Amino acid sequence: IIVILDFGSQYSELIARRIRETQVYSEVISYRTTAEQLKAINPKGIILSGGPSSVYDEKAPHCDPEIWNLGIPVLGVCYGMQLMVKQLGGTVERAKLAEYGKASLFIDDPTDLLTNVEEGSTMWMSHGDSCTDLPTGFEILAHTDNTPCAAVAHHEKNLYGVQFHPEVVHSIGGIALIRNFVYHICECEPTWTTATFVEESIREIREQVGDKRVLLALSGGVDSSTLAFLLHKAIGDQLTCMFIDQGFMRKYEPERLVKLFKEQFHIDVEYVNARERFLAQLEGITDPEVKRKRIGHEFINVFEEESKRLGPFDYLAQGTLYPDVIESADTNADPKSGERVAVKIKSHHNVGGLPKDLRFKLIEPLRKLFKDEVRKVGRSIGLPEEIVNRQPFPGPGLAIRIIGEVTADRLNILRDADFIVRQEINRHGLYGELWQAFAVLLPIRSVGVMGDQRTYAYPIVLRFIKSEDGMTADWARVPYDLLELISNRIVNEVKGVNRVVYDITSKPPGTIEWE
Ligand code: XMP
Repeated sequence: IIVILDFGSQYSELIARRIRETQVYSEVISYRTTAEQLKAINPKGIILSGGPSSVYDEKAPHCDPEIWNLGIPVLGVCYGMQLMVKQLGGTVERAKLAEYGKASLFIDDPTDLLTNVEEGSTMWMSHGDSCTDLPTGFEILAHTDNTPCAAVAHHEKNLYGVQFHPEVVHSIGGIALIRNFVYHICECEPTWTTATFVEESIREIREQVGDKRVLLALSGGVDSSTLAFLLHKAIGDQLTCMFIDQGFMRKYEPERLVKLFKEQFHIDVEYVNARERFLAQLEGITDPEVKRKRIGHEFINVFEEESKRLGPFDYLAQGTLYPDVIESADTNADPKSGERVAVKIKSHHNVGGLPKDLRFKLIEPLRKLFKDEVRKVGRSIGLPEEIVNRQPFPGPGLAIRIIGEVTADRLNILRDADFIVRQEINRHGLYGELWQAFAVLLPIRSVGVMGDQRTYAYPIVLRFIKSEDGMTADWARVPYDLLELISNRIVNEVKGVNRVVYDITSKPPGTIEWE
């Protein structure tokens, strides 16, 4: 393992992902982790992340100075490097010229950390402070036009520092540098692979669960599906999957999901038809937040009733992923060990939020994984591409894509329009290219003419989005002909719709969903 001491950089998580891409396991832990605790973890290497502070700020976060004497290789990145230099007796000052963005790296020592990094490589810089005087024993490995100490090393002690961010995609030789650190300096072996993860998880699940029963709320998304596969492999029939059909899924999806699991994967799924109950909860409700809350509460009610009926269960399986663990680490961490002490039941978006006072013990086999690693694991244990590459779908489903009151009638209209969208997006090979492509129904009506008849019906909004992570998004520039085809089909085939419009708002300022 290589640990990353997190000083609050937006890139800490990215460093962990980069290390894992070299097939070495890596975790982000608190910068407060002491040298004693690190000894117990016994990592092959330590990386100090960047951070927003200046090392000479009064409240600047510091690490345990004993870390420098552990004999474990350390790589400081940006703030991490400045901290290393300052704590070991060097000088860090506000730079005359702050450096943000790309800079060319000129190499003074092409061996060691910078092996295979080309002279003049572009590196990503983001700093206002610079090291002006290095502690004894340190040498300069590379510089840029504005930064004399862009990469430094104390060879004897295996301490390294870089002022730039090798982890970001704009840093051209960054991966080579990380590989040098991981393989040559820390002497790690590439053992973090999907196969070993699956093998170890299965062993751990068996150990933890013993002969007890586990309940899993299946949503059909990649996380809960992968979880179902993994648990089924480990404990077979001790697992019960429960799928609650709220009535807000896309056309044919509930049936398809249950069939896939039962017939193809031979995993039994308890199908709970709760359509009427959910619809009744939304009668007369137009406020988006109230809608979401009511759906959430009803989910909990159904979940509790059904788990009593099917139970008793000892464990509840959750698809918590590593980013959730990091994000909640600060609030849940033991200040001494930096470890998560109480696992907060996160409001599980995909299944609508589970009750906080459940009497189950939790089992979270995916808690070490990033989303792309979940996909790899899913694929490796036989999950079909249609689930592995499924576009994100909100827990409250179509209910938040009908603006205003949700009625059975409107659900049918939206489901049919949405189905046409999906068909055509698939046919045109765009499914994988788009982050999401879906339809929204507006509760207003407008005038149209069909044949010789005047119509007065709902509009459908098409929302096609490109995005990397859902945090920001751009509307997709799809061909006009495709838009025309979809528009024609919806107006002709879906009764109750006489107009189709295309949403050309990016996020921000718009959100992806309309509610
Ligand atoms: P917004 O609309 O906030 O959506 O731009 C960002 C991403 O999150 C999805 N989304 C949800 N996912 N439960 C979910 O599981 C929800 O309640 C929910 N609301 C939005 C949305 O589809 C998009 O991918």
